Amino acid sequence: MKLANRVAIVTGAGRNIGEEVCKLLASEGAYIAVVDLDKARGDKVAADIVKAGGKAKGFVCDVGKEDDIIKCVADVNNEFGKADILVNNAAISDNKTMFDITTEEWNRVLAVTLTSPFLFSKHAAKAMIDKKVKGAIVNVSSTSGYYGRDRAVAYTAAKGGVVNLTKSLAIQLAPHNIRVNAVVPNKIGSPVGKDEFDPTRPVVNLAGRPGLPIDLAKAVLFLVSDDSEFIVGAQLFVDGGCTTLMPGNS
Ligand SMILES: NC(=O)c1ccc[n+]([C@@H]2O[C@H](COP(=O)([O-])OP(=O)(O)OC[C@H]3O[C@@H](n4cnc5c(N)ncnc54)[C@H](O)[C@@H]3O)[C@@H](O)[C@H]2O)c1
Repeated sequence: MKLANRVAIVTGAGRNIGEEVCKLLASEGAYIAVVDLDKARGDKVAADIVKAGGKAKGFVCDVGKEDDIIKCVADVNNEFGKADILVNNAAISDNKTMFDITTEEWNRVLAVTLTSPFLFSKHAAKAMIDKKVKGAIVNVSSTSGYYGRDRAVAYTAAKGGVVNLTKSLAIQLAPHNIRVNAVVPNKIGSPVGKDEFDPTRPVVNLAGRPGLPIDLAKAVLFLVSDDSEFIVGAQLFVDGGCTTLMPGNS
């Protein structure tokens, strides 16, 4: 068991990537705080883990609101005594162009996708430091954080921000024995904001298949476990090699 007696908070954990991360970390012995805005989804994931012999509880939280984050971090620490691991997975996309998106929509995407990894890390790290926990934080970015797109103007900006946020947090938390890293997925399971997985979803990568949530979960497990203890501030691409291909020359 790589994560025996460790407590992991996973945000946006009610389905797809977050769900699989919860289940894999639980299978390695971690206690899981399944954090989602949607209570039914989070509770279902927690119940599945408990049914499989693990320990988990659902926590309702809108990661776009700092008050919710503060309460959630306190509730998890009260419930499990500490939190060693934080996976900032929750995000929403806008799928809008710069002329279509309203300022309100832009602010909401930034709040959920970029400000929430900052605030969740800040409040969770404070508790880790107080409790002298050896911590690990993983931020979920996206290949959309490295390239411009003809839509999703707020999402691409937010995910680019997550990359550099990860580096600053890694530097500022290293003295406190907390490692911060990022994973960079491309087309894993269903698209962000959607339930349905289309296995024929077109992908251009070197693996020749779309990514599955378990592909990302394995990378997260590596980055939160001691197997990666010398890895700090890294961006681990989990994209089937898609960013290795020169655009137009695949
Ligand atoms: N799916 C992909 O192909 C893909 C590709 C690149 C990056 N990513 C990234 O991976 C992560 C997970 O993506 P996914 O496809 O599993 O997402 P998803 O949309 O399938 O699931 C997101 C979960 O987050 C929850 N959520 C939404 N807003 C929330 C909020 N304000 N507070 C708390 N919970 C909230 C939703 O209820 C849902 O359960 C995201 O950071 C996403 O940007 C995904």
